[in-house]
Amino acid sequence: MTSSPRSLALVTGGSRGLGHQICLQLREQGFQVQEFSRAAPHPWSVMLDLGRPQDIRPTLDRALGDLDLDGLDRLVVVGNAGSLAPIGPSWRQPREALRQHLQINLGSAIEFYDAVLAHFQHRPVVRKVIGHITSGAAHRPHAGLSLYGATKAGMEQYIRALAEEQRSQAHPFTAVALDPGALDTDMQAQIRAAAVEDLPVVTDFINRQRQGRLRDPAVVAHTLVAALLSPTLEPGPGSPADHAGASVHLQPAAPALH
Ligand SMILES: NC(=O)c1ccc[n+]([C@@H]2O[C@H](COP(=O)([O-])OP(=O)(O)OC[C@H]3O[C@@H](n4cnc5c(N)ncnc54)[C@H](OP(=O)(O)O)[C@@H]3O)[C@@H](O)[C@H]2O)c1
Repeated sequence: MTSSPRSLALVTGGSRGLGHQICLQLREQGFQVQEFSRAAPHPWSVMLDLGRPQDIRPTLDRALGDLDLDGLDRLVVVGNAGSLAPIGPSWRQPREALRQHLQINLGSAIEFYDAVLAHFQHRPVVRKVIGHITSGAAHRPHAGLSLYGATKAGMEQYIRALAEEQRSQAHPFTAVALDPGALDTDMQAQIRAAAVEDLPVVTDFINRQRQGRLRDPAVVAHTLVAALLSPTLEPGPGSPADHAGASVHLQPAAPALH
C-alpha cells in the first residue's frame, strides 16, 4: 500500500545499538522510518548488507518505490551503520576482512548517500539533512584501530566536501558528522573482547565499562536527533554547518577512548 509521509527518515544500521535508538526517537518525532541492516528485525526494517555495494541502489529504489514523496516536508538520513572488525594491525588481517571493512565503513557509506542524493537532490523538500555517525577515532590514533580510524576520518572529510557541494544546489541537504562519544553497545563489547596483542589499550576500554563511563545509547540518540532537527543546522551564513567544517561533536561523558 502506498503511503505519503510528510517526514521520512532513512537510517543505516538501525537494527540495534545507537541506530535502533535513533530510529525510535525519530518515530517519536513523527517520522516514517526505514532502517537498513542485515538482521532487519523491526517492522520498519529493510534488509541490506553494506558489504554488498551492488545491492544498495536497488534496495533503496524498492524501499522508496511504495512511497508517494510529493508531500514530503522533512527528510533525515542517518549513516549510522559501522563495523569495527578486524581489530589489529591491518597488515596481519585477512585481505577479505580488510576489504569488507573499507567497503562497509567507507565505500558503501558513500554509495548509500549517492543513492539518496540521486532520489532527492532535486526534490523541493523543505528540510533535508544528512547526519553521518563518526567517532573520536577519526582524530585520535589507537594502535589496532587503524582501519576504523581511517574510515571514520575519511567519511568526515567526505561529509565536509558534501556540505560544500550542497551550497550551490537549489534544494540543498545540510550534511554534518556527529560524534556520539563512547556508548554501551555491542561495539564496545567487541572492543573489550580484543586480544591485547591486537589492541594494546584494551584494558582502558575494559576499565571504562567497569567504571560506568559508557553512555546510554538512548540518551545519546535523544541528543543526536535534537541536533539533526535543530534549525541551527541549516546551511547558510552563521550556521554551525557553515563554520564548523560540518562537524558536530557532542560532549562525551569522559575523555574519549572510542
Ligand atoms: N559504541 C561506541 O562506543 C561508538 C563510539 C563512537 C562511534 N560509534 C559509531 O556509532 C555507530 C553505531 O555504533 P553502535 O555502537 O551502535 O554499534 P553496534 O551496536 O555494533 O551496531 C552496528 C549497527 O551497524 C549495522 N551494520 C554493521 N555492519 C553492517 C553491514 N554490513 N550492513 C548493514 N548494516 C551493518 C548493524 O546491523 P546488522 O548487524 O543487523 O547488519 C547494527 O545495526 C557506528 O557508526 C559506530 O562506529 C560507536
